[in-house]
Amino acid sequence: MQIPFFRPNIEQPEIDEVVDTLRSGWLTTGPKTKQFEADFAAYVGQTHAVAVNSCTAALHLALEAIGLGPDDTVVVPAMTFAATAEVVRYFGAKPLLVDCRERDFNLNVADAEQKIKAALARGETVKAILPVHYGGQVGDMAGVLQLARRFNLHIIEDAAHCCPAFYRDHESAPWKSVGAESAISCYSFYANKTITTGEGGMACTNNPKLAERMRIMSLHGISKDAWKRFTAEGSWYYEIIASGFKYNLTDIASSIGLHQLRKADRLHKQRAGWAEYYFRKLRHVEEVILPAVQPNRVHSWHLYPIRLRLDRLAIGRNQFMEELKQRGIGASVHWMPLHMHPYYREKYGYRPEDLPIAASLYGQMISLPLYPDLTAAQVDYICQGIHEIIARAQNLRCKAQSLVTPVVPHARPLSQAPV
Ligand SMILES: Cc1ncc(COP(=O)(O)O)c(C=O)c1O
Repeated sequence: MQIPFFRPNIEQPEIDEVVDTLRSGWLTTGPKTKQFEADFAAYVGQTHAVAVNSCTAALHLALEAIGLGPDDTVVVPAMTFAATAEVVRYFGAKPLLVDCRERDFNLNVADAEQKIKAALARGETVKAILPVHYGGQVGDMAGVLQLARRFNLHIIEDAAHCCPAFYRDHESAPWKSVGAESAISCYSFYANKTITTGEGGMACTNNPKLAERMRIMSLHGISKDAWKRFTAEGSWYYEIIASGFKYNLTDIASSIGLHQLRKADRLHKQRAGWAEYYFRKLRHVEEVILPAVQPNRVHSWHLYPIRLRLDRLAIGRNQFMEELKQRGIGASVHWMPLHMHPYYREKYGYRPEDLPIAASLYGQMISLPLYPDLTAAQVDYICQGIHEIIARAQNLRCKAQSLVTPVVPHARPLSQAPV
C-alpha cells in the first residue's frame, strides 16, 4: 500500500470556482480575493484580513508593519519551520532562538524570559515575539502575553497550522480563536495545510492601521485599493508611498480558498477523528509517546507527531523512517530545530545543547499522515507497520543484549575496568 504524507481535499466546488474564475477574465487579485478575505476575517473573528501568496509573506508584512529595523531582536522558537526566523533576517534583525516545552513542542516562556533578559543585558532591543502554534495547538498564550506586557513586545502569531484552533485561559473562561490577543496573526494555505489554496496565506488583525500598512506593502507600496485601478470604480492614477513587495494572492487561488474555508469545520472534524483513531490504535504501544491535547485547547490537528522512546528501541528515528518508507508510508519530521541548521550555527554560533529540549525531541519525532481523506484501512496499515517495526527493533535489541551479556562470571563493567 502507498500512503502519501499528505493529500489535499479538493472537490467539485473548488474546481467549478476555478473554472469560473478562468472564464471571468479576472485572474489576479480581484473580487474573489476580496470575498475570501472577508470570509476568512469572519471565520477567525478578526476585523481585517489581508490575503497574500504565502504565510511567509504574511509574516514579513507583519514585521514590516510594526516597524522592525536592522538593530532589533525578535523572539522566535527554535522548533519551527524556516520561515518564522528567515523573515526576521529579511530586515537584518536578529532572531533570538528559544527552546520549546516537551508537552506540546511550543515555545517555552520561562526560557524566553531568560533569553530576553540576557539580550537586554547585552544592549539589544527586543521588539517582538513570534509564537508558533506547533501542529495547530495554541501554546502558552497567557505566558506570552505576560512577557509581551513586561518587556513591551509586539506579538505576531505564526498560526500557519491553525485553521481553526481555539484556546481559553481556564475551564470557565470563554473560548478564543487563535489570533485573538496578538497584533497580527498569520496563516498558511500551502498545499499540505489544514485549508489550502496551493500557495497562499493571510495576515489578520483588529488594528486598522496595521491592516492598511500590510495591504499597501503587499502590492508594491501602492496607495490604497491598487487592485481596483483596472475596474470601473478605479482610476489609472496611483502613488507609490513606500518600496513594497509583490505578495498579492490571485483570484485563481482564492477560488480554491473560498470553498476550502466553507468546509474548514468539516475537514477539522475529520482530522480530529483520525487523531482519535491513531490514539485508540497506538495508546498501548510503550515504545511511542503520542501527541496529547492540552487542557483548554481545541487542536487543529495539522500534524500528528509521535515520539519514539529510543531507550526501548534498537533502531534510531532515521531507520524507523526508512522502514516506514519501505512499507510505502509517507512520514516526515517537524522539524530539525533552527539552531541545528548550518545557517544559524554558523551565523550565531549555536550548538545543539544550547536549546536542549528541542535538540533531544528532534531525534525522536516522526509526523504520521493526517488528513481528512485517509481511510481506516490506511490508518490500520500505518499502525500495523509501526507495530512490526517496533517488534523487529525489539528483537534486535534482545539479540544485542544477549551478545553483550558477560560470559565470564563477575566480569567488570567497562566503566570499572582497570586502566
Ligand atoms: C510554522 C510555519 N510557519 C510558516 C510557514 C510558511 O508557510 P508558507 O509556505 O505558506 O509560506 C510554515 C510552512 O510550512 C510553517 O510550518
